[in-house]
Amino acid sequence: MHATRPIAVPPDPPAAEPEAAIALPDYLVDTYSWAYLQPRSLRLLDRHVVVNCILWGNYRRLVRAACREFAAGDRVLQAASVYGNLSSRLADKVGDRGFLDVIDIAPLQVTHCRQKLSGRANVRVRVADAGAAGAQDYDGVCCFFLLHEVPDLQKRRIVNALLAAVRPGGKVVFVDYHRPARWHPLRPVMALIFRFLEPFAAGLVSRSIQHFAESPQDFDWHQRTRFAGLYQVVVATRQR
Ligand SMILES: C[S@@+](CC[C@H](N)C(=O)[O-])C[C@H]1O[C@@H](n2cnc3c(N)ncnc32)[C@H](O)[C@@H]1O
Repeated sequence: MHATRPIAVPPDPPAAEPEAAIALPDYLVDTYSWAYLQPRSLRLLDRHVVVNCILWGNYRRLVRAACREFAAGDRVLQAASVYGNLSSRLADKVGDRGFLDVIDIAPLQVTHCRQKLSGRANVRVRVADAGAAGAQDYDGVCCFFLLHEVPDLQKRRIVNALLAAVRPGGKVVFVDYHRPARWHPLRPVMALIFRFLEPFAAGLVSRSIQHFAESPQDFDWHQRTRFAGLYQVVVATRQR
């Protein structure tokens, strides 16, 4: 005979905060306006084939690696909106008993993401700065390809705010670029892309994400690389 397990109580979504207008940061306006702040970019870039090409065919694999870290019933913060189906996959993973809170600093991205996720009861999408996420007691945080797009000081703010946002035992999952192996055939191409299109990526691939944490000892850090080192999946699990 099977022992009956207690039915989990559905978690309450975090209290809704009033949507304050946040000034768009200079790094976003000056460097990534073409990618995130113009309606025609959304129509062009938010397609599986495009995001998968940008990630050299690794999009699904990296989304799977992120989603694997979360469980049904979890309350998860997604630190920025992402093209493709990451948010739907996360919402599916946490399920009806869980909750996905997607934030983005750009109102246009928030509107777009709301449209993509409309009809899902376990999701909220709102304007907020990942660098001011605050102590929130989430079970998990997913930070997908955000850090390489922000200056180093912002990397530090964002990493520490996201680490502060999880409960003890909760995890922050960072998926982002990493330094490819010396023999990687795409290494010279990526060096050009980082130089001309992704000027803040150098500050990420030259050091570990743990390096940005103010209290790294409070977390158990686990890093794996993918695609001969071009990508990294870092899981920081809060110990106390
Ligand atoms: C997650 S990153 C890159 C994702 C990846 N290139 C993709 O979309 O497939 C892009 C998003 O980060 C957002 N963003 C940049 N700085 C942010 C911050 N401080 N807080 C929250 N969102 C931010 C941008 O508005 C943009 O929508």
